[in-house]
Amino acid sequence: MKKKKQPWPTKDAMEQIYEMKLWGDYHSSFYSGSGSHDPNIVDPYIAAVTQFLTSFKTPITLCDLGCGDFNIGRQLLSHTQKYIAVDIVNSLIAHNRTQFEADHLEFYCLDIAKDKLPDGDCALVRQVLQHLSNQEVAAILEKLNKYRYIVLTEHLPNGSFIPNKDIISGQGIRLKKQSGLDILAPPFNFKVFAEKQLLATIPQDHKGVITTTLYQVW
Ligand SMILES: C[S@@+](CC[C@H](N)C(=O)[O-])C[C@H]1O[C@@H](n2cnc3c(N)ncnc32)[C@H](O)[C@@H]1O
Repeated sequence: MKKKKQPWPTKDAMEQIYEMKLWGDYHSSFYSGSGSHDPNIVDPYIAAVTQFLTSFKTPITLCDLGCGDFNIGRQLLSHTQKYIAVDIVNSLIAHNRTQFEADHLEFYCLDIAKDKLPDGDCALVRQVLQHLSNQEVAAILEKLNKYRYIVLTEHLPNGSFIPNKDIISGQGIRLKKQSGLDILAPPFNFKVFAEKQLLATIPQDHKGVITTTLYQVW
């Protein structure tokens, strides 16, 4: 009898991605992939999120959930009152602590599907949920409504698609199933007060579109 494929715990899967450099290498000990480094993708993102962050009279507290190698976070840091960056990979967080230092910056190793999320005004969730199973996405969404704002970035298919097909958490994303995440659609039905698309960028390989949406939750 064929054995049913048992998913790895997400922490093990993410650790292996960094250890085996499955998202690429570029001579750095930790590399979160071209989506975190390609200037065609990163520069417009930094510009759009900077505009949002600087629209507040008083800078806000940002919680970067799944911060990866912090190439994104380091470029947003100066526009925040406090920046809390978390990731599931312990060694990555330990490495980030040695690379990036600021009085208002804190790094924590957390599993955002299982652990209590840090307090803040806005959650930045960039190309994280796309790697996670529907069960984990649902567990995360239950906690995300503590933030007034969510800036969510997801890699989606071009054109129309059936959202939220389930995947096993890991390196891959729903694009391989011609699907992508829509947190407002079933089975999640996440409730928000307002929604605004900040950005849609076509990656260099022309596979899908990377969209960034600002949700005002309450
Ligand atoms: C593709 S990388 C994106 C990194 C960063 N957000 C960026 O855009 O540059 C996805 C990151 O999410 C982290 N991650 C995945 N599942 C997580 C979880 N349950 N809790 C915390 N971090 C998680 C991974 O370890 C990885 O660093």
